[in-house]
Amino acid sequence: MLEVSSPAKAILFGEHAVVYGKPALAISLDRRMTVKAFPAGLPKVDGGPLSMRKHRYVRWAYNNLWDGPTLAFKTRSSIPSASGLGSSAALSCSIAAILNYLKGEFTEEGTARSGFQIEYNVQGKASPTDTSCSTHGKGILVTYEPREELLWSIEKGETTWHVHHIAPPDLELVVGYTRKPSITPIQVEKVKSFYDRSGFAKETIEEIGDLVNDGLKALKEGDVVKLGGLMDRNHSLLTILGVTSKEIDRLRDAAGPYSYGTKLTGAGGGGSILALTDRPHKVSEAIKKRGGVPYIVRPSKEGTTLNILDSETVDVILQQVQGQKG
Ligand code: MEV
Repeated sequence: MLEVSSPAKAILFGEHAVVYGKPALAISLDRRMTVKAFPAGLPKVDGGPLSMRKHRYVRWAYNNLWDGPTLAFKTRSSIPSASGLGSSAALSCSIAAILNYLKGEFTEEGTARSGFQIEYNVQGKASPTDTSCSTHGKGILVTYEPREELLWSIEKGETTWHVHHIAPPDLELVVGYTRKPSITPIQVEKVKSFYDRSGFAKETIEEIGDLVNDGLKALKEGDVVKLGGLMDRNHSLLTILGVTSKEIDRLRDAAGPYSYGTKLTGAGGGGSILALTDRPHKVSEAIKKRGGVPYIVRPSKEGTTLNILDSETVDVILQQVQGQKG
């Protein structure tokens, strides 16, 4: 009755450092997670019962953010899971949008907030970068001080993240998926234990933060040579934090000769690299030859979109939920 779709994201600069009070710059990508919701006798996902192990994000959302009639969900995705491209954020935002809409509370900001709430509760330590990027589409800048073009501010504990709109840049990009899963909580924990015991880790995080501002300037000027150089530098700093892997390095070696710059994107450990290039087919071939899965991508203009397929059923559910509230 209701179909919602949310885009993948790629962090251009600042992953991990954003968890420690530094800025991050992310763009959405033209690969999407689509979720359909319909009334059902039992809560289900893709025909199977809502499972603690297989459907952690949907299950958390359903148990904590929904009190209305029973729903089933059907998912379809062109974002590989655990690839560093935000498939769990896109799922969280899509489910958040569905439940908020059926509660009569749908807004872009509300989707970003509920999407973050879902991801945070399932993953533990996380910033709202991925979920805000997927909700808004285009690009976003996350900072600890509000600036111009503020979209919303999200608080958790002591931390407040300010999320800003960035126009979708005209960049040619290739993602190289390593086929090795990137497990965000494991990588975030790994960085945390290094950060807690090392001044060098703190300096490295500081340096990543400085580089994000240079990246933003280069992005606004459309200077791909500068951007590429900063991507390489950001990757070297992430290597110091211990989140690269031989699979990532192999794909960077393959893509490097045909790119302005390459870096891991997302939590690392596995997942994907991002190559900025004007020879996307050459980069794709090179990635494929080294065992990776290439995707030629473009920044997406659309964030979370909502499409009502059966307005009568939607109205019935809206009335039931309003009735429960009243
Ligand atoms: C994961 O895509 C990005 C990290 O910075 C974690 C986060 O911001 O939640 C590693």
